Amino acid sequence: MTSVNELIRAAAARETSTRPPGGAQKPGAPAHRRPIALRATGLTSCGTGLAEDPWTIDREEGYGPGASVEDPIPGDAPRQGPLPAEYTEASEEELHARIVAAKEALGDRVRILGHFYQRDEIVQHADFVGDSFMLAQAAKSHPEAEAFVFCGVHFMAETADILSGPDQAVILPNLAAGCSMADMATIEQVEDCWRELVFEFGVEPDAQGRQPVIPVTYMNSSAAIKAFCGRNGGIVCTSSNARTVLEWAFARGQRVVFFPDQHLGRNTAKAMGITEDEMPLWRPHLPLGGNTTQALRESKVILWNGFCSVHKRFTVDQIERARAEFPGVRVIVHPECPAAVVEAADGAGSTEYIRKEIEAAAPGSVIAVGTEINLVNRLQEQHPELTVFCLDPVVCPCSTMYRIHPAYLAWTLESLLAGEIPNRIVVADDVAGDSRVALERMLAARP
Ligand code: 13P
Ligand code: SF4
Repeated sequence: MTSVNELIRAAAARETSTRPPGGAQKPGAPAHRRPIALRATGLTSCGTGLAEDPWTIDREEGYGPGASVEDPIPGDAPRQGPLPAEYTEASEEELHARIVAAKEALGDRVRILGHFYQRDEIVQHADFVGDSFMLAQAAKSHPEAEAFVFCGVHFMAETADILSGPDQAVILPNLAAGCSMADMATIEQVEDCWRELVFEFGVEPDAQGRQPVIPVTYMNSSAAIKAFCGRNGGIVCTSSNARTVLEWAFARGQRVVFFPDQHLGRNTAKAMGITEDEMPLWRPHLPLGGNTTQALRESKVILWNGFCSVHKRFTVDQIERARAEFPGVRVIVHPECPAAVVEAADGAGSTEYIRKEIEAAAPGSVIAVGTEINLVNRLQEQHPELTVFCLDPVVCPCSTMYRIHPAYLAWTLESLLAGEIPNRIVVADDVAGDSRVALERMLAARP
């Protein structure tokens, strides 16, 4: 049987030989200039802009090409200023050498945190690589560091700032690395929603002392929304502890309002036996979120209408095709995928869960994964004894994670070495205080 790896390699070879002259990926171009879509598999990409150089992506309006291309960027989202030419013109080798030298000179003063979805050119420099829960813990447990360089997205850097010490700086190498899902819930919309829920249910606890509604927010949300949850008896969750957190919430409340990822909320609640009928969708801008009073009264989990553009691409059809092509394939997906996909898969969990599942697989296993392509490709490279491939044949990196390019990391580290603190992410004290309450509840919640 032809392995997926062989198919991918053959497609990559075809892709290289048929690329038109002057096409965006020049043969022999340094890897950091090559479009991930082509470098990864040689298959088609979800956004032609990914074939442009990274500076083109940063000049464009919106989140840039990739899965989030159609997600509108908020007007007040930070924009990254242009990098000096000494970085944008540097070769891959030069950037690598400069990062290594600057990191060595900075020593223990600076810790680099890297999310699993970062490119390999970044991950290789990270002191800690993990899912969003592990990176939050890393920021909390390294008081020796003067600064954390957070190679991930904005909400993760905010969380690191909240959990780290007051004198520790958290830096996001490219300010435009946001998360389109996190931006699907603004604090104003959340407060409007809460006002309507309080009007419907009041604030008085029932006979068992349970609040009418407990607000729960996914880590992928602004610090302002985390603070809102902290102020209102609520909590934060990540994809690795969502069930534990919902159990925590149901011990204290009659129902939950879950921001902003409807899929993580629905998948977690379904696994706890909550039915679709008990999970109305809240659409901001519509009175009562587009629901009837009765639907809200009968609800157990009110789901915010947000989603991840990368994970909503995975389909049941892709799983069926993988099973037909590779009998015995194990399918594992991230819980940001739609419910039908999670149900059709053999397992679902956080990026760390996916990593562990692959690490534990018997040699020769074939594993189809429904998550971001950088992680899937790395897991395949780390496990040549397995066949690991992405369920989606159209390559879609998280276009915002992708914005942390080695040139930004080199610039950040060399700026630190020169005594400057570039792109510092600072959460205002009042917001940080209430957010910390919600985050500490999460860290203390036990299964
Ligand atoms: P993890 O918490 O599983 O790392 O997920 C974060 C994320 O943004 C997935 O899209
Ligand atoms: Fe946000 Fe989706 Fe990217 Fe995760 S993969 S950071 S949820 S846009």
